[in-house]
Amino acid sequence: MIRATGLRKLYGDARARRAALDGVDFSVEPGDFVAVLGPSGSGKSTLLAILGGLDRDYEGRLEIFGSELRGLGDAALARLRGARIGFIFQAFHLLSHLSVIDNVLAPSLFAEGAGDLRLRALALLDRVGLVDRRDDPPTELSGGQRQRVSIARALLRKPDLVLCDEPTGNLDAETGERIVDLFRELHVEEKLTLVAVTHEERLARAATRTVRLRAGKIDGGEA
Ligand SMILES: Nc1ncnc2c1ncn2[C@@H]1O[C@H](COP(=O)(O)OP(=O)(O)OP(=O)(O)O)[C@@H](O)[C@H]1O
Ligand SMILES: [Mg+2]
Repeated sequence: MIRATGLRKLYGDARARRAALDGVDFSVEPGDFVAVLGPSGSGKSTLLAILGGLDRDYEGRLEIFGSELRGLGDAALARLRGARIGFIFQAFHLLSHLSVIDNVLAPSLFAEGAGDLRLRALALLDRVGLVDRRDDPPTELSGGQRQRVSIARALLRKPDLVLCDEPTGNLDAETGERIVDLFRELHVEEKLTLVAVTHEERLARAATRTVRLRAGKIDGGEA
C-alpha cells in the first residue's frame, strides 16, 4: 500500500541544512495498524506529510497504492488523496465559519459516487459523540471535540488508509479511550489501514506494529 525507500527530507538553506528524515525505509501493508513513536522533533509529522502526498519536496522513493508519487500530476494526486486517504492532523484545520457537520462534509463537496455523505456524516458524528453539536461552529467546541470532528471528517469517504498525527493528543483519558476503541473497531471490522503518530501507550498498544523514529531515522528497525 505504501513503500518508502531511502526517504530524506532536508530543511533550512545551504548554510544550515538539517535532515528531518535521514534515510527512512518504511512500508505499510493493507490491514496494518502502525503506531509511529518517537520524541518531539524526531520527524514523525514530516514522515506523515510525505506519506500522504502533502509534502512532495523529499528525496528517495515513495510508492502509494502502486504509483510512484513523484510521477503523479497534481490532479491525479488530489483525486487519490480525496478518495483513498484520510488525514487527522496534529492541529485540526477546521473551518471556523462552517458548522460541525459542514466541516465534516467540506472536503467532499465535489466528490463523485460517494453515496449519501450527509447520512454518513451524521452517523460518524454520532459515533464520535458529537451529533447533537452538528450545527455549532467549531470555535464553540473544546480541543478534544474539535479533534473528534476532524476524525469524522477523515473517515467520511471510507478511505483505504488513514494517517493520523496525535489523534488522541488533546483528549482526556476517557475520550481518548473511546477514540482508540473506534480506531480498533474500524481496523478490525472495516479493514481500515491506519498509521498513527502518537506519544500514547494506549494507542500504541492497539496497533499491530510500532515504528520508532529518532533524529530522522528508524530506531532499531521495525518491531
Ligand atoms: N517547516 C519547517 N521548517 C524547518 N524545519 C522544520 C519544519 N518543520 C519541521 N522542521 C524540523 O524537522 C524536524 C522534525 O519535525 P517534525 O515536525 O516532523 O517532528 P515531530 O516528530 O512531529 O515532533 P512533535 O512530536 O513535536 O510533533 C524538527 O527538527 C523540526 O525542527
Ligand atoms: Mg509532530
